Amino acid sequence: MTTTAAPLNKITTTTIHIAALDGVVTVNSLFTFAVFLGLTWNPTDPNYILVDATATACAATSSIAEDLVAFHVYSFSSFLFSSLIALGMKQAIRSSEEGEHGVGLRSVAYVNLKVLRMGILASAAGSVLGCVFLTVAMVDLVQIKLGILGCWSWYSLAVTFGPLVILKQNQPVNLLTFSSAWNQLAFPSKPPPKLLKIALFVKKWPNKYQAGGLERHALTLHLALAKRGHELHIFTTAPANSSFPRYPMSNLYFHLTKPTAAGYLDQALVWKQFQTQNSTGKPFDVIHTESAGIMHTRSRSLTNLAVTWHGIAYEAIHSDIIQEVLRNSEESQAYALTARAFKVVEEVKFFQNYAHHVATSDHCGDVLKRIYMIPEERVHTILNGVDEEIFNPDLSKGKDFKLKIGISQSKALILGMAGRLVKDKGHPLMFEALKQMFMENSTFQASVIVLVAGDGPWGARYKDLGANLLVLGPLEQAQMSRFYNAIDIFVNPTLRAQGLDHTLLEAILSGKPVMATRLASITGSVIVGKEMGYTFSPTVSSLKKALYEVWEDGRGILEKKGQLARQRGVELFTAAKMAAAYERLFLCISSDSRNRDIYCKYQSQFG
Ligand SMILES: *[C@@H]1O[C@H](CO)[C@@H](O)[C@H](O)[C@H]1NC(C)=O
Ligand SMILES: *[C@@H]1O[C@H](CO)[C@@H](O)[C@H](O)[C@H]1NC(C)=O
Ligand SMILES: *[C@@H]1O[C@H](CO)[C@@H](O)[C@H](O)[C@H]1NC(C)=O
Repeated sequence: MTTTAAPLNKITTTTIHIAALDGVVTVNSLFTFAVFLGLTWNPTDPNYILVDATATACAATSSIAEDLVAFHVYSFSSFLFSSLIALGMKQAIRSSEEGEHGVGLRSVAYVNLKVLRMGILASAAGSVLGCVFLTVAMVDLVQIKLGILGCWSWYSLAVTFGPLVILKQNQPVNLLTFSSAWNQLAFPSKPPPKLLKIALFVKKWPNKYQAGGLERHALTLHLALAKRGHELHIFTTAPANSSFPRYPMSNLYFHLTKPTAAGYLDQALVWKQFQTQNSTGKPFDVIHTESAGIMHTRSRSLTNLAVTWHGIAYEAIHSDIIQEVLRNSEESQAYALTARAFKVVEEVKFFQNYAHHVATSDHCGDVLKRIYMIPEERVHTILNGVDEEIFNPDLSKGKDFKLKIGISQSKALILGMAGRLVKDKGHPLMFEALKQMFMENSTFQASVIVLVAGDGPWGARYKDLGANLLVLGPLEQAQMSRFYNAIDIFVNPTLRAQGLDHTLLEAILSGKPVMATRLASITGSVIVGKEMGYTFSPTVSSLKKALYEVWEDGRGILEKKGQLARQRGVELFTAAKMAAAYERLFLCISSDSRNRDIYCKYQSQFG
């Protein structure tokens, strides 16, 4: 159908069409050119990537880079398609002008409006598609430059959805409902103007070297808080015969009581001591308990209290399942599993009596909120930290250690394990895996040395595996630091899914890659990606597979993984980070309500 309207109208319509087509062509050309240029450089060039050391887990994968290029190409083709249609239409209009009236005589053209409209529609659709693909490509680009979305990188979110969230970014975040680990936030390194009087309840204060996770946490955290100037009163049990350690700090007080027959804090006695301290001088600003140091019957009424859980029954169910699966047919069935389920129900009930909960792993935080049904503003995740001044990379320390144990000449790959050498730390599994590998592959046996620090029943058994298995006995901290520096990879085959393992964090801060069982606390907070280590299921075959992989990867790849692990570790797992996060939590929940307004809010860097 040709136009039947008056000539004036015809001129106007056609002119507008031509102008529109011109516009489309111009804009498209610009985009096409820009997109073409975009295709010519390497998006993953490390020189131009802003993902910082902390975000190795957040670094974009190569598939994102592939997507980026693909969407660039789609975008390019769409713009090209749109331009071609637009140019074609324009040409058609010109031709019809010429056909009817000769070149340049009159600007009246008879065109099929339906076709014209469809052409413009097609051209517009091409442009829109081009823009959509370009936007997707831009999101990929941002992910490559700033870390993947869905990762904790606030920067990339802020840039991608910038205009949408920038307003929100300016608002301070309510820390109490902050759902990720507080270790990711940056708190001032200077001590706060207000110093706190803190009470700590802990079943046992560690005697220098041999300390479980809970005691190590108590020691590292509270010594750091005392160093920052806070007044600490530590209510703990008196050791049976060894002398109690002394610290050169005047703001650190120990209140010792005789333990109960089962080795716990005598609640009545401890409470009396606490009341005396609370009524003389200043009352306590905040109360901290490592696991159920203070029982829920006493904690019920305290609003300025935080409990740090180093293992909850729900997590232990995983360990029970593993033990049951690994049980050989001669052993009788353990009833731990059924009993554990009831323990969870008990915990769900009495955990409510603690005002604030600190989870030491992301997984534990999630379980406390979801399964234990504790309101989210009362659950806070603060990952364990270890002393960064003791655990750090130092080549010479590693050399010294190797010299001392007589392996300085060896070119073999050195695997390290540490901790109590007992069944639930996975040593039977490791023993069996190594035994099988040594037997089936002599090359492996000849090119691997396994160092085992710690003691326990499996120490003696490991010695049966031959000369390249060195059982070193328990080592104190400074020795452990040398030990980590001497190894190529740290292996922890633990079957206990409770708390957040300290040895992995120490190895990571020492710049070593780590290998551990696939337990939720570990895969969720520590070995969050292949780039910092290896994980395996607690079966001999899976462990063997992982060990062969480590061996085949060799020293070069392990060193790279170790560096990446440390970069992330320095941002998350230092004692300083942990202490700063706890300090902030304590300030926020302390009895002084004026503090709440200041310290429960977090102003992000964008604010
Ligand atoms: C404490 O004393 C008991 C016996 O009285 C002894 O068996 C144990 O080894 C001692 N522990 C330490 C750490 O000295
Ligand atoms: C500690 O002392 C303060 C001030 O006297 C009091 O308000 C608070 O209830 C006491 N805390 C406990 C747990 O008794
Ligand atoms: C040991 O394993 C490696 C890699 O899996 C393999 O190449 C090699 O042939 C094996 N050696 C023996 C003696 O089985």
